[in-house]
Amino acid sequence: MADRLAHSAKNAGELMSSLVNLLHEHMLKYNWVGFYMIEKPLTAAEPPMLVLSAFEGAMTPHTRIPLNQGICGAAASSGKTVVVDDVSSDSRYLACSIETKSEIVVPIYVHAEVVGELDIDSHFPAAFGCEDRELVEHCSLLVGKYLEQTPE
Ligand code: SME
Repeated sequence: MADRLAHSAKNAGELMSSLVNLLHEHMLKYNWVGFYMIEKPLTAAEPPMLVLSAFEGAMTPHTRIPLNQGICGAAASSGKTVVVDDVSSDSRYLACSIETKSEIVVPIYVHAEVVGELDIDSHFPAAFGCEDRELVEHCSLLVGKYLEQTPE
């Protein structure tokens, strides 16, 4: 299903919106699903930022996240998937909703460089097991490959 979206999308924005919609609609424990993309600063003095892109779920106060903050920043700066089973016990966590109990963040690579990430929050503790991780990593890979083939 996700692969089909990658074939039919007219641009990366449409692909990201449809993936967010698919995951939010069909995965019952995925209560907030969104992409953050890295905005490169105009001057060297400014830090790069993760900027909220397509998302579904409650509006978050975290629309711009520096790479050294939050679970989102940790995933983007390490380039590795971060799974947090209990956000209340992780000091990096930036609260989005008091209902959120667990979170997964998967980086998106384009030509071996992190360009953004797919972030999912759940109202259930430890909602993201091996199969979820594989699914979310696959979706991130689809976006990375799409961006590699069709730079915008
Ligand atoms: N919880 C994230 C912030 C983004 S909201 O979950 C949508 C973090 O700790 O980086």
